[in-house]
Amino acid sequence: MATHKLLLLPGDGIGTEIMAEVEKIIDFLGSQDSSVTFEVERDLVGGAAYDAHGEAITDAAMAKADAADAVIFGAVGGQKWDDVPYEHRPEAGLLRLRKDLDLFANLRPAICYPALADASSLKRSLVEGLDILIVRELTGGTYFGEPKEIVDLADGEQRGVDTTVYTTREIDRVVRVALDLAKVRTNKLHMAAKWNVMKTGVLWQKVTTATHKAYAPDVELNLILADNCAMQLIRNPRQFDVIVTDNLFGDILSDEAAMMTGSLGMLPSASLGAPDGSTGRRKALYEPVHGSAPDISGQGLANPIAMIASFAMALRYSFGMGQQADAIEQAIAKVLDSGLRTADIMQDGKTKVGTEQMGTAILQELQATL
Ligand code: NAI
Ligand code: MG
Repeated sequence: MATHKLLLLPGDGIGTEIMAEVEKIIDFLGSQDSSVTFEVERDLVGGAAYDAHGEAITDAAMAKADAADAVIFGAVGGQKWDDVPYEHRPEAGLLRLRKDLDLFANLRPAICYPALADASSLKRSLVEGLDILIVRELTGGTYFGEPKEIVDLADGEQRGVDTTVYTTREIDRVVRVALDLAKVRTNKLHMAAKWNVMKTGVLWQKVTTATHKAYAPDVELNLILADNCAMQLIRNPRQFDVIVTDNLFGDILSDEAAMMTGSLGMLPSASLGAPDGSTGRRKALYEPVHGSAPDISGQGLANPIAMIASFAMALRYSFGMGQQADAIEQAIAKVLDSGLRTADIMQDGKTKVGTEQMGTAILQELQATL
C-alpha cells in the first residue's frame, strides 16, 4: 500500500485551468489502483497568494511543500501584479520553492510526438520518436558565481564580470541524479562540458568519471564537448538519451532541444533535490515550461499537455509508477494521432478543441488502457 503526498499549486492565469485536467487524472489513478493512494493538498502561489496573503507563497504553503513527495506547479504571473513590490512578485513563489527545497537538478525532456513531427524545426526523419532528457544543474555555475559585477575602468570604459564556480559536491550530486535517470531509461548518459578551455569543465570531467565508476559503472557514459553537443543535437538528435550539463550550457541546450518538439504548450519539466535520508525519495517539483499565458487565460483555450506530461514525470520519477507514466504519454500520443489539437498546435485538417476537451480525451484514452 503506497501513499503519495501531492501538493497542487495551480498559481495564476491558465495554471488553474490546466491543473483541473491533472486533477481528473489523479482521481482516476487513485480509484483505478487500490494499492495506490494519493493524498492531495492544495494551496495558493504567485499572484493568487499575494492577493490572499500579501506574499507570493506563505510559510504554511512552504511547510506543505516540504512535507509533500511531489509539488505539482501550474504557472504564475500576470499584468495585475506588475507593480507589486519586487520581493512579492509572483515569480518569488517559484524561486522560494526552488531555493528552500534545494532543487538543484532541472529535468527538461524533449519528446517528439509523431503526430507533431511536422511542426518541428527539424525534418520528420530526424525527430520522429525523439525522446531526450536534459538534466541541467540549476543552482550553481555562471549565473550565481561571485564576483558578479560591472567595474568602472579609466576613460569611461567598463568591465563586466561573471564567474563560473562549481564544487565537486555540486557536480557529484547532479551527476548521480542523471545516472539514476539513465538507469530507468536506456542506460546511456552524455555529459557535456568544456574541459578543453574551462577549469570547471576539467572538474566536471573528473567528477563525472569518478562518480560514474563508483556509483553506476553499468551505465554507458559518453563525455562530449558542449559545443559539439549543440551541433550533434541538430545533426542527429536521436543518438542522445540523458544529457547532464551545467547551468549555462543546460539553459541553452535544453531550449535547443525543446524546439525540435513543437509548441511551448507541450513541454513538461521537473526539478529534483537531494534524496531524503530515511526514504531515499528526492524533493521534487513538476511544472510546465510555459508561463501563465495571460493572453489566452480564462477562455478555456490552453493546451493542458505540458501540465499533464509534467504529472506523468512525477509518477515516473517520484513514485516509481513508470507504467502509468508511459500510459499517460501514450494516451497523449493517441489523442494527437486522432487529430485533436488545441489552438497553439493547430494544423490544417485537424479538429480544434479547448483545454477541457483535450484533458477529457486524454483521460478517456488512459481509462481505455489501464
Ligand atoms: P507564456 O509561456 O505564459 O506565454 C508565451 C506564449 O505561449 C503566449 O502566447 C501564450 O498564449 C502561449 N502559451 C503558453 N503556454 C501555453 C499553453 N499551455 N497552451 C497554449 N498556449 C500557450 O510566457 P509570457 O507570455 O512571456 O509570460 C506570461 C506570464 O507568465 C508573465 O507574467 C511571466 O512572468 C510568467 N511566466 C511564468 C513562468 C512560470 O510560472 N514558471 C514561466 C514563464 C513566464
Ligand atoms: Mg532558457
